[in-house]
Amino acid sequence: MKSRYLRGAALAMFGLALAGCSGRGGHDGRTVLGFSQVGAESEWRTANTASIKSAAHDAGIDLRFSDAQQKQANQISAIRSFIAQRVDVIAFSPVVESGWEPVLREAKAAHIPVVLTDRAVDVSDPSLYVTLIGSDFVEEGRKAARWLLQNTPAGDGPVDIVELEGTVGSAPAIDRKKGFHEALAGHPRYQVIRSQSGDFTRAGGKEVMEAFLKAEGKRINVVFAHNDDMAIGAIQAIEEAGLRPGRDIKVISMDGVKGAFEAMMAGKLNVTVECNPLLGPQLMQAVAAIKAGKPLPRRIVVEESVYPMESAAAAFPTRKY
Ligand code: AHR
Repeated sequence: MKSRYLRGAALAMFGLALAGCSGRGGHDGRTVLGFSQVGAESEWRTANTASIKSAAHDAGIDLRFSDAQQKQANQISAIRSFIAQRVDVIAFSPVVESGWEPVLREAKAAHIPVVLTDRAVDVSDPSLYVTLIGSDFVEEGRKAARWLLQNTPAGDGPVDIVELEGTVGSAPAIDRKKGFHEALAGHPRYQVIRSQSGDFTRAGGKEVMEAFLKAEGKRINVVFAHNDDMAIGAIQAIEEAGLRPGRDIKVISMDGVKGAFEAMMAGKLNVTVECNPLLGPQLMQAVAAIKAGKPLPRRIVVEESVYPMESAAAAFPTRKY
């Protein structure tokens, strides 16, 4: 009995110590934001992290940043730690869509508002987060397919496509696939003959593309990669197989990072559909609005363009990531 009492008291003291004994907010009165990032899997993610860190600094927000190394369990631990620290707002970019309900209920019970950035979660209770700031991934997939439909020479020969998918279960992988396939439905000439995840990394894209080339060889007309990093990995695999990326095999990707522009200027990547990672300023505005008790829309969508190879050299000097 006594030892249970002591353990309970010790836990309470630990909780108070984490909270700085002074309720919400930092020691210096600044707003405290706990942010759980997916990882550092891509050039896009690196730019996203830099944007969040510099926007927090500019806004005078005390940012507690945690890198989950692409593991949901790490994100759940980070969110629990933010709850224990009694931060003012929790934000995170969820690695996958499902499995968030319990931890988000814990945040709600602790009265800590949650903002999603970049990726969506699949929850039955919409009150578990305030808003989602990020791209329309389904539309990005449709844009990629529309570019392909408009840029395939006329005829009725088959257009055989291989798809490099993002992280299994993640919102961008699910939605980009949906949009791409949806826009190609009704065009039987276009067939996705193989699909596999390359986990949004260059190494993953290269490895999966090597396997596709081994299995299908010269039959492949197009690679649709769910991000630029996997496309760059695939380009290496295509070259190592003695083929010309951008010519023998068209390469379509997503993000619009500088590496993609360099590949386009070298004639190896045909098009990239922009996905803007510079979400930091919008996130800090949302945090300020929450602190001020102002309402926010449920969804804050980012405006984006499509950059075909021909536009790359002119656009490159203005690219920020
Ligand atoms: O969620 C956005 C996606 O995640 C980007 O397209 C990709 O590069 C990143 O890893």
